[in-house]
Amino acid sequence: MCGIVGFVGQEQAAPILLDGLEKLEYRGYDSAGIAVLSESKGLQVKKAKGRLQVLRGLTGDGRDVEGTLGIGHTRWATHGEPSDLNSHPHLSSGHRIAVVHNGIIENYVEIREFLQSQGIPFQSETDTEVVAQLLEYYYDRCGDIMASVYRVLARIEGAYALGILCRDLPDAFIAARKDAPLLLGYGQGCSFIASDVTAIIKHTREVAYMEDGEVALVKAGGIQVFNAMGQPVEKEHHTVDWDVSAAEKGGFPHFMLKEIMEQPEAVRKTVSPRLKDGRVHFEELKLTAEDIRSFSRFFIVACGSSYHVGMVGKYNLERLLRRPVDVMLASEFRYADPLVDEHTLVIFISQSGETLDTMAALRRAKALGARTLAIVNVVGSSIAREADQVLYTWAGPEIAVATTKAYSTQLVLLDMLGLFFAQALGSVEEEEYARIVSELQALPAKMETVLADTERIKYLASRYFNHSSIFFIGRNLDYALGLEGSLKLKEISYIHSEAYAAGELKHGTISLIEKGTLVVALCCYAPLFEKSVSNIVEVKARGADILAVTTESLAAELGKTAENVLPVPDTHLLLQPSLGVLPLQIFAYYVALQRGCDIDKPRNLAKSVTVE
Ligand code: M6R
Repeated sequence: MCGIVGFVGQEQAAPILLDGLEKLEYRGYDSAGIAVLSESKGLQVKKAKGRLQVLRGLTGDGRDVEGTLGIGHTRWATHGEPSDLNSHPHLSSGHRIAVVHNGIIENYVEIREFLQSQGIPFQSETDTEVVAQLLEYYYDRCGDIMASVYRVLARIEGAYALGILCRDLPDAFIAARKDAPLLLGYGQGCSFIASDVTAIIKHTREVAYMEDGEVALVKAGGIQVFNAMGQPVEKEHHTVDWDVSAAEKGGFPHFMLKEIMEQPEAVRKTVSPRLKDGRVHFEELKLTAEDIRSFSRFFIVACGSSYHVGMVGKYNLERLLRRPVDVMLASEFRYADPLVDEHTLVIFISQSGETLDTMAALRRAKALGARTLAIVNVVGSSIAREADQVLYTWAGPEIAVATTKAYSTQLVLLDMLGLFFAQALGSVEEEEYARIVSELQALPAKMETVLADTERIKYLASRYFNHSSIFFIGRNLDYALGLEGSLKLKEISYIHSEAYAAGELKHGTISLIEKGTLVVALCCYAPLFEKSVSNIVEVKARGADILAVTTESLAAELGKTAENVLPVPDTHLLLQPSLGVLPLQIFAYYVALQRGCDIDKPRNLAKSVTVE
């Protein structure tokens, strides 16, 4: 939620900041702003409600704002509605300090009351403004901006990534972080901060990740970092292994479509390096066979689509490991009293690696003594760094709010983890193991065949795009798949949609089925195919239209019952969701397109959910 970027160098800052904000818009897009410092113009703040385009118009694409030092922000509103006044940067009342912030200051009411009692007027309803005002309050008294920053950080509670400009600091800005992502970028004669590397990848691939409690003094010639006690810290530099083209649309009308089409390659990159001589290897895992055997129970904890991956994982891991696997929403796990101990492995799944609920659940699991492993896409993200072990999905940057390639890579990685553990536990037959490995290798090519021809799905989307309610049904792995299909559809098309275990429908929800209701029936799970067909017959008897997804080998049989059948290639049963999800993503995409929705940036959503 919210994206921040900062630049100091020789070039004009504002166009660079706007460029960076464009890449961060997926994190929040209800308003945007920049603050730039220049010798002749002083501290200039330009901000506006609405998309970045509005700010671009206001600043002549940044050209009208003089100065080579600045910070920028794109907002996903938490405290205070989207408005010009609530947009960041926030200025102190003496106009000497400007602040951009990602996160939430939990004790802002108390601080605001204190400052107001000191006669300091407030402009906005945000929690962030207290940072700017409190900073100036301390600065007025001690005259040392770094000391004032430390005093503010000691007083505020909550999560923050902060970018701070001070009018009296003409060649630097300050950054601070706690529980919200922030990285430092090292360019040629210039330096950056950003919530995400996509914002600065055009300028540098050399980055360092700020840790909680750290404060950075960012100058064109270099960046000094200090720990929470104010002592200098040497940061490890990392080189990002992808370039600017990975974070651009590359000729596609939307990032979502581009990312859907990138899935075979993304899955290949996740799988191939970890398969050697027909066996799964995780060189990055520091777990012995003995460790694995010591796990009597597994949890999978995540949010949204990552949770849906966990739902598939529960079925697959229990089948492979013959040990209990619980899957839990992170927002529930963090406040529950889960039965975990040192013999439990809790697997956290997160594309962004910054989802606050997942992060909190991870900390809770660790506090309870569990062993933890994270499956994450964003390298160096908070969850990746805090978990005992991390497996990266290597899907590359995912920009569209609706996840596609991250989902697919998480899915195969979890399947591979299942195989890896099963081998250590001796719980899988050698022949079965070999078949799954061989199908994993074949998966990208099979995905390509589904993605090669999307015309029929496009046609079905044009037929059903104006429905007001769409149901997804399936059993076992198909139920888990339906959850993802339904979420994909509703988040980008705004059509009401629900996913049900097919056998559960008749316990209530079937009363919503009427003539013409579209039911997307998932029938890829062969062992329960007949049962699913019976459920299709039940909803058809109530007038439903059926759009069915199944395997090529079952398509002809299903065609006898369902009017619209979308076949996907056959693969090993455990991997079938990796193919079944593709028509659902494409259907959601074209439905949303027909409805004229803002596909990459659906209303009310943000890519990385760093609030509770
Ligand atoms: O970054 P994470 O995987 O932790 O994000 C979890 C959810 O917020 C995310 O999957 C969300 O549900 C997506 N918008 C779904 O497309």
